[in-house]
Amino acid sequence: MKFRLISCSLALSALLSVHAQQVMDVNTKKMGASVSPTMYGLFFEDINYAADGGLYAELVKNRSFEFPNRLTGWDISGKVTVMNDGPFDKNPHYVRLAPSGHSDKHTMIENHGFFGIGVKAGEEYRFSVWARVVEGGSAKLYIDLVDNATMSDDQKIGSGSVDVSGKEWKKYTTVIKAKKSFAKAHLRVWGSNKATTDIEHVSLFPVKTYKGRENGLRQDLAQALEDVHPGVFRFPGGCIVEGTDLATRYQWKNTVGPVENRPLNENRWHYTFTHRYFPDYFQTYGLGFFEFFQLCEDIKAEPLPVLSVGLACQFQNRKESDHAAMDELKPFIDDCLDLIEFANGPVDSKWGKLRADMGHPEPFNMKYIGIGNEQWDAPYFERLKPFVAAVRAKYPNIKIVGTSGPDSEGKMFDKGWVAMKEQKADLVDEHFYRPEAWFLGTGDRKKWPNCGALRYDSYDRKGPKVFAGEYACHGAGKKWNHYETSLYEAAFMTGIERNADIVEMATYAPLFAHVEGWQWRPDMIWYDNTRMFKSVSYYVQQMYAMNKGTNVLKLTTKDPADPKGKKAIPVAGQDGLNGLFASSVYDKTTGEVIIKVVNTSKEAQPVSINLLDMTGERTAETLTLQHSGSMDDENTLSNPNKIVPVSSTVNCTTTGKKKQTVLNDNLPAMSFRLYKVKK
Ligand code: AHR
Repeated sequence: MKFRLISCSLALSALLSVHAQQVMDVNTKKMGASVSPTMYGLFFEDINYAADGGLYAELVKNRSFEFPNRLTGWDISGKVTVMNDGPFDKNPHYVRLAPSGHSDKHTMIENHGFFGIGVKAGEEYRFSVWARVVEGGSAKLYIDLVDNATMSDDQKIGSGSVDVSGKEWKKYTTVIKAKKSFAKAHLRVWGSNKATTDIEHVSLFPVKTYKGRENGLRQDLAQALEDVHPGVFRFPGGCIVEGTDLATRYQWKNTVGPVENRPLNENRWHYTFTHRYFPDYFQTYGLGFFEFFQLCEDIKAEPLPVLSVGLACQFQNRKESDHAAMDELKPFIDDCLDLIEFANGPVDSKWGKLRADMGHPEPFNMKYIGIGNEQWDAPYFERLKPFVAAVRAKYPNIKIVGTSGPDSEGKMFDKGWVAMKEQKADLVDEHFYRPEAWFLGTGDRKKWPNCGALRYDSYDRKGPKVFAGEYACHGAGKKWNHYETSLYEAAFMTGIERNADIVEMATYAPLFAHVEGWQWRPDMIWYDNTRMFKSVSYYVQQMYAMNKGTNVLKLTTKDPADPKGKKAIPVAGQDGLNGLFASSVYDKTTGEVIIKVVNTSKEAQPVSINLLDMTGERTAETLTLQHSGSMDDENTLSNPNKIVPVSSTVNCTTTGKKKQTVLNDNLPAMSFRLYKVKK
């Protein structure tokens, strides 16, 4: 992580402050609740071209000719026929390239990629294809990466060829080096016009993928995930788990085994929003459950797969007959038990063997399973029961994550929590996409009784733990990744941190978005075919995840509403605190006290933080997020580092006879600052 170093004096900004000094106490002696290592994580769903066209590094769209329109994404010329008796039973279509009958009439096909194919000068790309020569003998296939928009003589950016021989299907590969960078290249494949050649699973990957894997992930995007230092990784959704209907739900068994034979599924984000329609958005499952588990291992996050509970999306399916009936649940429950075996089972078990055959004999050591995405009411509660019973009986150590539905409060939400308690779910997955007032806690309490950073202070400590599984501040009328909403997320997260005894994990949503293919925003990481940028929300998540500590420390201030001025309260944006939010943790591994303070006020704000039980002068390291002029500031592809965390230091002085350490600072208006002091 690169942080700009600022040289400006933090003290200077104190002169500009109009607020009275806010005094806070951090009890550094008494260790509070443990902070779960899973606390800050990531949630991946294939929305906004997050998988195909995004994290999954495949550059060819519709590589197996299985899209409903078999030639979506391909231009053709000459004699091209779609056939359907190919070597992969779940993806039977392929194309036949026959000589045109004229030496200058070339039979060619050309793929457009996902909004084009992004290539970089000097980089290598691995082309592969399954092919055969129909009448036997041999035939050459020519492969070109091209720039169709160029004014120069030659459209070719890079070329290669493969020699196909015999009537049997075989895999052929060649590596092509790009001569120039271009975000919108096409891939052209053509024959010598001498022999009829069949081709299937036409694929192109950058050689440099994350960890160098052939069926790999886009290097820059996967690295950005690793750089968050996430504790947990929830996948594969979201609504795609449920499907628009049961038939199109996400079925993990279709996503494992050889990539060539993983059947295509539609992606509900292709058509859900009529104002953002993407008719070429499908799921090839090249990035499937094996790859997800492998990614979790690489980025050191606990895997949290979510499976269908037998309910199609409840928003879109209101009839009981739209869902699996109780006596039809067995295959769904089997999928759940088999998944645990796939992840953790011995190599001589059916599904453990498949994992080993795919290259990972060691178990993935999965500890959590989510059952149902955003489900609610009786249809969910009754279906969940047999899943819980089956998992408990066979895998008592697996933690079960249930859900409280799509709302952050209300009748259905409350019912959900009651049911999850009754069924003894280990965690409850809560979702909240809410506006500024909700995150700040200033919203209407009748509508949002539990909004803001005090939300979890009142939760029952005896029931399941909380998983804030999908959340983001959606600015009212301003739904994009601007600075202001990210700041309010940081403010809200002080409440998550303070309540680490009940909140076990939290994941912002959604994670990824292609700038040309999004359906939903804000999102954490944006990209086009060759570039990416991290939103301010990314940096908020990263600042928390990299500084989560091991134990909560009590941080309080005097209640401004208490006439005697004795009552200590958390700093969570209450009246009289001038929009200040704060929390603190201790990190036993580094011996550091870490304090996070968010100033949501439009004025700078002086703070004095007493580090109780610490004496002597010290230097605190600081990390600050601040806008660069406007609350609507955002990072973009052309200005990706407009707002990044900036590191500096502040000197702590002492107070009283005992020379207790005190940290005085002036927080810039609308800023998030984190302090680290060695104890
Ligand atoms: O994150 C986008 C969608 O929001 C998810 O698919 C769903 O779970 C929620 O409604």
